[in-house]
Amino acid sequence: MEIGWMHNARQRQVLIFYVLLGLSRAGTALGPYTVVEETDRGSFVANLGKDLGVGLTELSTRGARIISQGNREHLQLKVQTGDLLINEKLDREELCGPTEPCVLHFQVLMEKPLEIFQAELRVRDINDHSPIFPEREMILKILENSPLGNMFPLKNAVDLDVGSNNVQEYNISPNSHFRVLTSNRSDGRKYPELVLDKELDREEEAELRLTLTALDGGSPPRSGTSQVHIEVVDINDNAPEFEQALYKVQIPEDSPIGSLVVTVSASDLDSGLNGKISYTLFQPSEDISKILEVNPITGEIRLTTQVDYETILSIEVDIEATDGGGLSGKCTLLLQVVDVNDNAPEVTTSALTSPIPENSPEIVVAVFSVWDPDSGDNGKTVSSIQEDLPFLLKPSVKNFYTLVTERALDREARAEYNITITFTDLGTPRLKTQCNIMVVVSDVNDNAPTFNQSSYTLFVWENNSPALHIGTVSATDRDSGTNAQVTYSLLPPQDPHLPIASLVSINADNGHLFALRSLDYEALRAFEFRVGAVDAGSPALSSEALVRVVVVDDNDNSPFVLYPLQNGSAPCTELVPRAAEAGYLVTKVVAVDNDSGQNAWLSYQLLKATEPGLFRVWAHNGEVRTARLLSERDATKHRLVVLVKDNGEPSMSATVTLHVLLVDGFSQPYLPLPEVPLDETQADSLTIYLVTALASVSTLFLFSVLLFVAVRLCRRNRAALVGRCSVPEGHFPGHLVDINGTGTLSQSYQYEVCLTRGSGTSEFQFLKPIISCYPPQGTTSEIEENSNFQNSFGFNY
Ligand SMILES: *[C@@H]1O[C@H](CO)[C@@H](O)[C@H](O)[C@H]1NC(C)=O
Ligand SMILES: *[C@@H]1O[C@H](CO)[C@@H](O)[C@H](O)[C@H]1NC(C)=O
Ligand SMILES: *[C@@H]1O[C@H](CO)[C@@H](O)[C@H](O)[C@H]1NC(C)=O
Ligand SMILES: *[C@@H]1O[C@H](CO)[C@@H](O)[C@H](O)[C@H]1NC(C)=O
Ligand SMILES: *[C@@H]1O[C@H](CO)[C@@H](O)[C@H](O)[C@H]1NC(C)=O
Repeated sequence: MEIGWMHNARQRQVLIFYVLLGLSRAGTALGPYTVVEETDRGSFVANLGKDLGVGLTELSTRGARIISQGNREHLQLKVQTGDLLINEKLDREELCGPTEPCVLHFQVLMEKPLEIFQAELRVRDINDHSPIFPEREMILKILENSPLGNMFPLKNAVDLDVGSNNVQEYNISPNSHFRVLTSNRSDGRKYPELVLDKELDREEEAELRLTLTALDGGSPPRSGTSQVHIEVVDINDNAPEFEQALYKVQIPEDSPIGSLVVTVSASDLDSGLNGKISYTLFQPSEDISKILEVNPITGEIRLTTQVDYETILSIEVDIEATDGGGLSGKCTLLLQVVDVNDNAPEVTTSALTSPIPENSPEIVVAVFSVWDPDSGDNGKTVSSIQEDLPFLLKPSVKNFYTLVTERALDREARAEYNITITFTDLGTPRLKTQCNIMVVVSDVNDNAPTFNQSSYTLFVWENNSPALHIGTVSATDRDSGTNAQVTYSLLPPQDPHLPIASLVSINADNGHLFALRSLDYEALRAFEFRVGAVDAGSPALSSEALVRVVVVDDNDNSPFVLYPLQNGSAPCTELVPRAAEAGYLVTKVVAVDNDSGQNAWLSYQLLKATEPGLFRVWAHNGEVRTARLLSERDATKHRLVVLVKDNGEPSMSATVTLHVLLVDGFSQPYLPLPEVPLDETQADSLTIYLVTALASVSTLFLFSVLLFVAVRLCRRNRAALVGRCSVPEGHFPGHLVDINGTGTLSQSYQYEVCLTRGSGTSEFQFLKPIISCYPPQGTTSEIEENSNFQNSFGFNY
């Protein structure tokens, strides 16, 4: 605009010049004069007087003056001297702008005559302006892949000076990529262009800050600068790159779902979308994609399921990182699953033998295979069984164990074993598996039946009903099954004459014993036999026991009076002297009872008497004595009925009638019996007793023997006096006498009563068991046997 304005002003000046020319005799031109701009006021330009060829006075008289274009008075004329001086400082740029040369036209006017002289003043430029860039900073975006030599025009600087004082050259601060080229425009102005000398790399250097300097041609040159900010524009020239090519990770197999495995990380030097990375698993197998997931943004790889060392030892998968421009990079993830002791040993029972026979040495009972899927110590196993069992667990070939018996087993001691086998691995913590096996010991017939008693004594009442159950024998067999099935039988008796088969029978199944017929105590007091028990094993085993049957007496016998005899047509008559004192022993009733025990305990009582109160009967021994002194008034003949009663339940009894004759006088003198020669046996017995007596130091024994001898003598002498009494002769079976001093006497006695003189109440001084008069006719063994039987009853006499 400014320039435009100056151009209009110049046209006006030219127009005025031509008008003036028409008015005058214009012809002569002055100058051109030259002045440097910015010259001080008053500075000399030229001497017009000389140039016009007029004198000094003429100038002043003719009124010479300068006519400038416009109102500005750039010049003044000293008419006195004719010098043309600078009236004010001239600024070329103001006056002419970019126009060169800068010419100011003026006229010198003189009157009388009017004369006008054309003149021009040239204003020369000085370098008083610096180049100025329109902006302090220029921003330039350049693709990083721009080819070498590419030019990038820059804004040029403006310098108000002209000519060589204008901008002549641009240069740029040192850098490795660009140089600047100063180019000409058609109008001569110079402008800068950047030339790419070396390839750019955004990733290396994303921007450059350069200083562009414009230099003018002054001397010294003036300059102006501007910042050039070059932004290197990214192209996707970089693929993502992982920090590690291989990520090696170990995770324990018991890691929970969602556990972080690893975070992979890739970087992309590019920027923006070109540098935006997303992660994926690269072509994962179906299995792996079920196990791992990758966060596309963060690169975190997590478990989506639990991993099992026993199934997957390791996983190898590639991870791909892709940038927004589609370039990708890969890395490899090697995931090793670390074993955790998460598996207890697994036990398989391969073979089991049960039941196992007893009495056999070492037997393989079971075979186990053990497998622990864990590895290392986690998979090693140790095994054990309870300590107190007769079994051993032996390691066999790899992972196999055999359970064997330690020794022969005894079913009867223990028939079943509940064996707990424990397999423990060596991991931490230790895991164990237990299995129980039941081992049954099978029976072998190694035990005979055993009776619960070695001998049985059975008591039964005599007169039993036939087929009465009299007792039970019982045998058990410690074996089992048929080996323990016991069958009972009667064994042949030791005494071949015992008709055992007709006496008892046995139930083969339960050992019940039955009497086959009614037993008679008096006939058979006891008997023995053997029973056998046999099992059903093969071979069968058996044992036996003794059974003794003791017949228990029943009160089935009445007392039997031996004396006085009752059947006689000449009954035995007792003679009692009237002078006898009270208590005089008249006679003694002697009775026996074939029963035993209480059933044979006899008591006596006076049932009837001719003169009650005269005689008394001693209940326990049957002695009949006078109850008071006799007198002349008492009748001569007396009849007494004595009742003999046993103690059985119910009791049985017998009666006996006694005849007593009272005789006058005192007690009869003891008449010597006629000599009766001893028979040979009697003589022998006497001799033995005497010898025994002499040999014995026991006074008691001696006394007994002397007593015996005395009785013998008494008997001999008695015949004449007591001839009317008859004594039953013969053997009384079962009647015993204590000959050998055992103190055991029979329940029955037979006495011979001897009358003695003058001893008051003890006229019958000698009492003797009449049995001794009869040598024993039964066998001694029988007697002893019977004696023993009585002992077993507990009845002592
Ligand atoms: C630009 O001008 C200068 C001087 O006026 C000259 O030396 C140079 O060769 C010119 N350059 C071009 C490219 O025209
Ligand atoms: C064996 O012993 C185990 C452990 O004591 C027990 O659990 C199991 O019931 C027993 N088995 C038999 C058959 O008794
Ligand atoms: C032996 O067995 C019999 C019959 O069962 C029985 O009566 C008896 O009491 C048993 N003896 C013993 C000592 O147990
Ligand atoms: C009386 O009985 C006994 C034994 O029975 C006999 O010996 C005796 O002769 C009998 N007396 C008379 C007289 O019948
Ligand atoms: C007593 O027993 C014996 C032997 O059995 C017999 O001979 C006798 O007659 C019996 N006496 C009586 C009274 O039954």
